[in-house]
Amino acid sequence: MEPLILNHPLALHKLSFIRDRKTCGLLFRQLVEELGLILAVESTRTLATESVAVETPLERTQGRRLLPLDPVLVPVLRAGLGLLPAFLQLMPTAKVGHLGLYRDHDTLVPVPYYRNFPPLLEERTVFVLDPMLATGGSASEAVRQLKAAGAKKLSLVAVIASPEGMKRMAEDHPDVQVVVAALDRELNEKGYILPGLGDAGDRIFGTN
Ligand code: PRP
Ligand code: URA
Repeated sequence: MEPLILNHPLALHKLSFIRDRKTCGLLFRQLVEELGLILAVESTRTLATESVAVETPLERTQGRRLLPLDPVLVPVLRAGLGLLPAFLQLMPTAKVGHLGLYRDHDTLVPVPYYRNFPPLLEERTVFVLDPMLATGGSASEAVRQLKAAGAKKLSLVAVIASPEGMKRMAEDHPDVQVVVAALDRELNEKGYILPGLGDAGDRIFGTN
């Protein structure tokens, strides 16, 4: 499936601030949340809707509503939590799963440490949320676990991706819709995205 790279003017504007090393935790979190709103709108374009009858004050008409089976949001801990409030603001009845993964500093291989998925994954659209798609190891492992648990229709939503991460997702999960705000140049030798924004989890939660 073709990835969606937004390059939206508002997203690029906000990105220029979160890339800035001088942007502090509070503003960084706010901007990640605002980027989450843009990503939420764009990544939900293909959600299925059904026709409903509506009585306006003037006449009867047809509207469209989302199908009753709510989507699932799965933030990849920790940094994915930064995108969750925006998605929940637009889809307040969505179910939320959690997946704990951290990258081993030496091997860059994701290490799973927590998992809690809602039921009926096979019938719901699942959005995996993680601001950074670097080597792609964490995103690929998150999608692998969700598929193993039954999920069939998945999107991976990130703020910044590297070419390496996009390639990994296309190879491992060509059926998954990847939506990113921007595509950066490359990874450095430690697996950080360049120019990137540094460690997203540390900057969101003030652990840097
Ligand atoms: C970061 C980020 C992704 C992962 C991306 O998480 O939030 O989950 O790295 O890298 P990858 O594409 O090479 O796998 P990290 O492991 O630093 O954990 P944290 O969110 O708890 O800081
Ligand atoms: N994880 C991050 O938070 N930032 C990167 O650049 C790469 C992985």
